[in-house]
Amino acid sequence: MFDAVETDTKLTLDGVTSGYGPVAIIKDLSLSIRKGEIFALMGKNGMGKTTLLKTILGLVPSREGEIRLDGRSITGAAPKVLIKSGVGYAPQEQPLFTDLSIRDNLRLAVRSDRELDAALEHVFTHFPFLRDRLAQKAGTLSGGEQKMLILSRALMLKPDLILIDEISEGLQPTVIAQIAKALQAERAESGTTILLVEQNLNFALEVADRWAVLKLGEIDDSGIAGPDSRERVLEHLKI
Ligand SMILES: Nc1ncnc2c1ncn2[C@@H]1O[C@H](COP(=O)(O)OP(=O)(O)O)[C@@H](O)[C@H]1O
Ligand SMILES: [Mg+2]
Repeated sequence: MFDAVETDTKLTLDGVTSGYGPVAIIKDLSLSIRKGEIFALMGKNGMGKTTLLKTILGLVPSREGEIRLDGRSITGAAPKVLIKSGVGYAPQEQPLFTDLSIRDNLRLAVRSDRELDAALEHVFTHFPFLRDRLAQKAGTLSGGEQKMLILSRALMLKPDLILIDEISEGLQPTVIAQIAKALQAERAESGTTILLVEQNLNFALEVADRWAVLKLGEIDDSGIAGPDSRERVLEHLKI
């Protein structure tokens, strides 16, 4: 199980099939992400990107195959086990408690008040605007600020692996640039591995080392991020 290749591997999916009820959404999917890598998973709406992240997190059960984190099987592990194992998640849907303050939203990501201050200082290094606005209700933030808060919550425990679901959706280029900078800084400082689910190809290819395109639950194409990537990915994202 601990072969030479896997020592460099953060996350492995080995023939994973998962879905809802009898319907398979992710189909016999294999994927391997290296430690410290930023990996962009792209694909059109409904292709299974969110389902794949939820399968890794144990929110959607996998029916076949194995998922390994640092070479150890996490197949069937509960979401809280994954969080404890250093996995952060910035979800696409209903991610914030809009009636709670920024501070309380961030407080939910840590286990104790003792941890809170250090974790807050960590996220302020990426998003300093949060410092003076801790008491503000999350629902009163702009769309871009809410996305930065979602990402901050995922970064609170300094995860080794972050799963990020369409963080750039609906955001202005200036906000996307701030998020790109934060992700690059987090990786540079902590060696964090990042699995970035995206439909914004410019953002994804700017920050990612490698990419893959998901089509109906299968990897349709993949490559190293480089000058030829844009055209190739674009071809897959066309309606
Ligand atoms: N909770 C659910 N129950 C049943 N089907 C779902 C559920 N969530 C998503 N699906 C279906 O799974 C497929 C993939 O959805 P999703 O993973 O959200 O795709 P993406 O994130 O790529 O847009 C879609 O056909 C969607 O309708
Ligand atoms: Mg999705």
